[in-house]
Amino acid sequence: MCGITAFTGKDAALPILLSGLEKLEYRGYDSAGITLVDDKGLFTKKAKGRLKDLEDMLDVPSFHQTTGIGHTRWATHGVPSQLNSHPHTNAANTISIVHNGIIENYEGIKANLKAKGYEFQSETDSEVIVHLLDYYYDGNMLEAMKKTVNQLEGSFAICVLSTDEPDTVYVAKTASPMVLGKSENGTFAASDIPAILEYTKDVLILEDGQMAKLTPNEISVYTFHCEPVEAKWTHIPYDIEAAQKGGYDTFMLKEIYEQPEAIRETLRGRIEKGEIHLEDLEKLDFTKINRVYFVACGTAWHAGIYANTLFQKWIDVPSICVAASEFRYSDPHVDDKTLCVYISQSGETADTLAALKMSKEKGAQTISIVNVLGSSIARASDVTLYTCAGPEIAVASTKAFTTQLALVTLLILKIAELRGTDVACKAELLEGLKQMPEVVSAMLDKHELMKEYAGFLKNQQDAYFIGRQLDYVSVLEGALKLKEVSYVHADAYFAGELKHGAIALIEKDTVVIAMATQPEVAAKTISNIEETMARGANVILITTKDQPAPKFKYVIRIPDVHPLLAVIPVTILLQLFAYYAAVEKGRDVDKPRNLAKSVTVE
Ligand code: M6R
Repeated sequence: MCGITAFTGKDAALPILLSGLEKLEYRGYDSAGITLVDDKGLFTKKAKGRLKDLEDMLDVPSFHQTTGIGHTRWATHGVPSQLNSHPHTNAANTISIVHNGIIENYEGIKANLKAKGYEFQSETDSEVIVHLLDYYYDGNMLEAMKKTVNQLEGSFAICVLSTDEPDTVYVAKTASPMVLGKSENGTFAASDIPAILEYTKDVLILEDGQMAKLTPNEISVYTFHCEPVEAKWTHIPYDIEAAQKGGYDTFMLKEIYEQPEAIRETLRGRIEKGEIHLEDLEKLDFTKINRVYFVACGTAWHAGIYANTLFQKWIDVPSICVAASEFRYSDPHVDDKTLCVYISQSGETADTLAALKMSKEKGAQTISIVNVLGSSIARASDVTLYTCAGPEIAVASTKAFTTQLALVTLLILKIAELRGTDVACKAELLEGLKQMPEVVSAMLDKHELMKEYAGFLKNQQDAYFIGRQLDYVSVLEGALKLKEVSYVHADAYFAGELKHGAIALIEKDTVVIAMATQPEVAAKTISNIEETMARGANVILITTKDQPAPKFKYVIRIPDVHPLLAVIPVTILLQLFAYYAAVEKGRDVDKPRNLAKSVTVE
């Protein structure tokens, strides 16, 4: 997800742009750039890599321009490179733009512009914007903006500078975020509130289909047809940390609620016309692999178990999922015909990183699924696929997990395709993933119910999560989440294993959370659960829309999804359950005792 900042006012713009971009680093990026403007013209600087790389190229105090735009780019069209970085300028170097989003009809526009003699420097979709503005500009930038934005399809938040108005920034947005702000010292634009909160608490959230003109003292808002709009200003009554919490009581709750968007972002550009696009996979040779390891820790390990289950279903190569802390010491059979897939939110987990290094030394091909851009695991892997969940601050992993599930599904389907294996339900799964943000939202709507059920734990010390087959992934994750944030002892069992021991623990009012979403085994799971009910257990059943469950008092039904994807909606319910259990018990939800967000020690 790209990040945008803009400023025009009395102060030097560069430090404001850079500090804003720093606050937007959580969005992820692979290059950064700025344009400053004054009566001498445009000054643009871009760098591939981190913001620090850009700063190192600039002697910040020596730039006195008071108007500028900044950008961090997350590559979608065209590789991460200096040429593809923003800002983009026209040939005369009189107009400069930054863009966040995807211009879906850019190819047609590019062809038209080329026919008119425009030359393109980059592979990006964004560059068409600056040339369109150049084409339409006849001294009135707002008119040129109007003609340009009305031609664009897709999502965009755009900031524009021009040498004809060196103290003005023009902006426009549709389906990508844009916040405007004003203070005594100037006016601001950014992709998110924390980027400007240091300077002003008076913000205006630009709506889809709106443009604005920012001068040092004023912000004027217009429709895409240049009709003036009355601006709706909001005063932000909280500080940067609270702003980062976005009005939620805790980061964990915020991150639980961010999942529809996180999944959407993770899938963005990766499923098109029924085809899966995963960057850089062609670097690897999947035809030669004869053994596969999925390796991770904690919640990410649960995503590994899910990935391994799909892999075993579809691909005829022996595979296993191993906890990274065990993998290192189990003398695994790894050679150049081995594929190792590492999953990690932080990309810094010591055990996972050490396992990755070991497998590389032994010649394995390596893929990592990582959330934090540029992290150690990302850098050390042959191929890195990013979950685009945004920063996960709460110790308990939530949105990282569901985005991992979505991304590994694409990965395993793609490996099957590259090995020439037909997966009969591929189209259904891709469609199911595309619908997943809505499904997840429907699960979030059940928060009151989950709060009520979490209340069952009020006087309980234990909880038992049970399920079979893929439901076992949700079972493991639900139990871990409950343990870590509420400190209630929770165990995860295969439903069929209960009678081999653990059922001895079930007594009156013991809380059992049972999952029965897998059609081939749901009825069997239900009869296992009935065995616990017969011993007085207080059972909460999560099942599908049509599964008969007449004996159950507390039943939650998930929407119609492909059974292989059911783990995502079920997980949302279990996250809410754990969250409310922790709140009920007065725990420090975001920072549970004894735990760290990033476990960089063995
Ligand atoms: O950053 P990673 O995904 O590699 O972290 C792995 C585990 O430490 C992590 O998932 C941990 O289990 C979480 N606290 C679970 O909520």
